[in-house]
Amino acid sequence: MKFSKRTAFFLGSMIIISFLFSNIFSTSNVDPKLIFTEKYFDIGDKVNNLIWFVQITDIHISIFRDPSRITQFKDFCLRTIDAIKPITVLASGDLTDAKTKDQVGSTQIEKEWQYYRDILRETQIQNKTLWLDIRGNHDSFNVVDQHSKNNFFTNYSIQGKLFPRSYMYQIKKDNATYSFVAIDACLDPGPKRPFNFVGILDKQEIDHIYEMMKVLKTSSNYTIWFGHFPTSCILTHGEESVRDIIGKDRNGLVYLCGHLHKMGGLVPSMYTLQNAGFLELELGDWKDNRMYRILAIDHGIFSFIDVEMNEWPVVLITNPKNALFINPQRENVDSIRTSHFIRILAFSLADITSVKVKVNKENWLHCRHVSGPLFVVPWNPHLYFDGLHDIQVFVKDKEGRTRIINQHFSLDGTQLSFNIMPKILLSSNANVMFRMMFTIMVIISIGPLLFVRYLYDLLKVGRMSKLKRNQSIWKLWIRKLCLLSTIDRIFWPLVLYPLYLCVGPWSIGYIIEEHIGVIFAWGIYIRGSFLPGSFTYVYGFIQLVTFQVPLILILAHGVDQRYQYSILKPGRKRSMLNMVCAQLPFLILIFVQLEMAYFFWLAYGTLAFVLGPLRTWSIFVALALWHQTLTFPISCVGSKSITRIT
Ligand SMILES: *[C@@H]1O[C@H](CO)[C@@H](O)[C@H](O)[C@H]1NC(C)=O
Ligand SMILES: *[C@@H]1O[C@H](CO)[C@@H](O)[C@H](O)[C@H]1NC(C)=O
Repeated sequence: MKFSKRTAFFLGSMIIISFLFSNIFSTSNVDPKLIFTEKYFDIGDKVNNLIWFVQITDIHISIFRDPSRITQFKDFCLRTIDAIKPITVLASGDLTDAKTKDQVGSTQIEKEWQYYRDILRETQIQNKTLWLDIRGNHDSFNVVDQHSKNNFFTNYSIQGKLFPRSYMYQIKKDNATYSFVAIDACLDPGPKRPFNFVGILDKQEIDHIYEMMKVLKTSSNYTIWFGHFPTSCILTHGEESVRDIIGKDRNGLVYLCGHLHKMGGLVPSMYTLQNAGFLELELGDWKDNRMYRILAIDHGIFSFIDVEMNEWPVVLITNPKNALFINPQRENVDSIRTSHFIRILAFSLADITSVKVKVNKENWLHCRHVSGPLFVVPWNPHLYFDGLHDIQVFVKDKEGRTRIINQHFSLDGTQLSFNIMPKILLSSNANVMFRMMFTIMVIISIGPLLFVRYLYDLLKVGRMSKLKRNQSIWKLWIRKLCLLSTIDRIFWPLVLYPLYLCVGPWSIGYIIEEHIGVIFAWGIYIRGSFLPGSFTYVYGFIQLVTFQVPLILILAHGVDQRYQYSILKPGRKRSMLNMVCAQLPFLILIFVQLEMAYFFWLAYGTLAFVLGPLRTWSIFVALALWHQTLTFPISCVGSKSITRIT
């Protein structure tokens, strides 16, 4: 998702709504019964019981934008992978951009997939590592099903030929089995953007995941789950959420994902510990931020670091691990408490010449190279049994590049807490939030109108004392709304339009390839399938915020002006400036709506544009209502009591 004012707006709304529903957050106290006591290791200075691997996400290979995305991706497959020598690379979706030149429309572009395939071929990636790729929402834009000619993932990716959807790979090393489970929650059928933002696991896919979990239970020691969508953006068929499912895997250390692009940089470290017992780590994109991630499992303890391209040397402390990511439900913390060595992985383009460690304010200790990227130095963990401590590592390579990293560790279970924003974004449920945002906006759009109409009815029968003239801005606007609500021919369309958005079709058009679909607030019907709505609610929300609410205010003001000039100040001529000012907000509103309708046309084509009550028709509704406002017979305004309100 591209960052825009719109994103910032969602974010703001999501925060507010989330605070209202704070029970969706995880609490950080771990039930002592859940504390993990298996898989104890005596951590020494050997290179055994250690694997490291890499994640990259949201590559967005595009033939229209930013060619360096492609060349630098090739460089990543060559120099970066050669320097790190990961056992596997997880490419977690949005491999290609699949957007048209205007950046609004979307379809699969074969040329982009050819770039992806060719780079992996030319760099002989499969001779160097195990490349595990999976689809993201961009890889399923405009793909009607797996057998569609548009589903290039099957032909051009590395795993797609064997595994069109979710799959598992197991790697055996030093008597341990490491399982990598890829979750494909892409919509099937896959609509064009933007109604492709939230993923779904249908029954078939969930059954498939449960099949794989049988293997995880009997013959695996550690599981790394990964997929494109964060768990907050995955709907599931049935009662269980994707978090419940992953949480059942006692060997599951982490769920790795992408998709949110660090919210355009607003939330740089999007990490959290889910209640279900696993870490969830969103990785910044390759697309604009050129990020990737190095991860390690060292003697059953998981650690990772997010790195920007060309940032060498890269340093990852695997023991003692970063206090923020301690997970006592899945890792045996005793292994760290009784360990004999500090263990560090250091990678660079040139040989590493020096690795030094400093704990708290003590002296620097020189580390010994064991083999590959592993450096160790003996330590005495008993000195650090209480509270939080600092560890600092300095690394230098042969070409003079240096890096210093600093982090906290704790050996007594002291836990740091995650930031609130990542917690909200990863532990909430996007679908519920989006629906709530829409519902609240519908209420805001019609509630006040109905209320003042009710108020007016009371006035008419004289059950309520008349309002006094008052200049306060609130009362002024209440008066305007009151006036508006008495004019049936404007009032009813304004109330019915938001209600229509709740029930009626928003648009009918070519939602996927040559297939006609119907978009409703609650979902999309296409080719006999139903895709439950969730991003649709955001669309409706935006429509109400940018169109409905301003329209009500503009009309209320217009009615009031006309009323004042024709009844209260008859004969007084309106100045030119006054006339222009009165028209201007309406013109801006129409212009904005035209632009949004144009974007809708780019996204879904002419048919959807013409048969589009949501965007296109609303313009005509607005024009008709504005015409009414300028011409309504003054006698339409209810009884005399309103006159006295003023
Ligand atoms: C791997 O390397 C061998 C030679 O070292 C070569 O013959 C083979 O084609 C390579 N495979 C791939 C997938 O690049
Ligand atoms: C992995 O699990 C198997 C049994 O499931 C066990 O025999 C083996 O010791 C385990 N390996 C490690 C390194 O924990």
